[in-house]
Amino acid sequence: MFKRAIVRKPSKNFQDGITKSNLGKPIYNKALKQHSNYVKVLDNCGLEIIKLNADDRFPDSTFVEDTAIVNEEFAIITNIGTLSRKGEEVEIKQVLEMFYDNIESIKKPGTVDGGDVLKVENCYYIGLSKRTNKEGARQLIEVLRKYGYSYVTIPLTNVLHLKSGVSYIGDNNLIAAGEFIDNLNFIGYNIIKVKENEKYAANSVKINNYVLIPKGFEKLKESILSLGYKIIEIEMSEFRKLDGGLSCLSLRF
Ligand code: GLY
Repeated sequence: MFKRAIVRKPSKNFQDGITKSNLGKPIYNKALKQHSNYVKVLDNCGLEIIKLNADDRFPDSTFVEDTAIVNEEFAIITNIGTLSRKGEEVEIKQVLEMFYDNIESIKKPGTVDGGDVLKVENCYYIGLSKRTNKEGARQLIEVLRKYGYSYVTIPLTNVLHLKSGVSYIGDNNLIAAGEFIDNLNFIGYNIIKVKENEKYAANSVKINNYVLIPKGFEKLKESILSLGYKIIEIEMSEFRKLDGGLSCLSLRF
């Protein structure tokens, strides 16, 4: 069970964040409303919410998930693989120090984005992407081995982050889109296939008794409901415009 989450309000220059989506500029006030609703949902899932102030130095800083990898035992501060986001991790580290004695860090030339790291029970899947390089993965693996976790690395082809295309919702169920549907690394899981026109929703997240999915993706919603899960849908339109998924908006531990 997760007990708490760190979130950060979108900054005033949020619309200058990195994107390849071609969905237009996000509308700031709408993003604030959607973020505040997201926080309410986390609260309803039983989490204590640690709310950080907006940081106008970093347009992408609301996507806190990229700054760290956290579980019950340790936190790893990442080194985000894109220049405009370097420094976002500093305040996150200060907050995590209140909760963890064991804090590790990825150091340059290693880079890792938290969005490339998917925990499935005791195994971590690590996407090798434009943001997460081999040296970053090597350092991450060193920490995982120290704590007794297994790991698998997966080179990415079409997605920004590993978790842009695959999510784990417990009980052996993986939600997968595109290049991950037939990926040999995921043989043995029950794959909930996401259709091409719903691929944004492959980034969903299970928090305690609920699966949180982006609003408006009916086929995926039906598939998850048919497995007996309880779902909460969240409007994500403004974050999607910046290639941000639902999991990106929080660090849960
Ligand atoms: N806009 C989110 C990212 O590129 O990191």
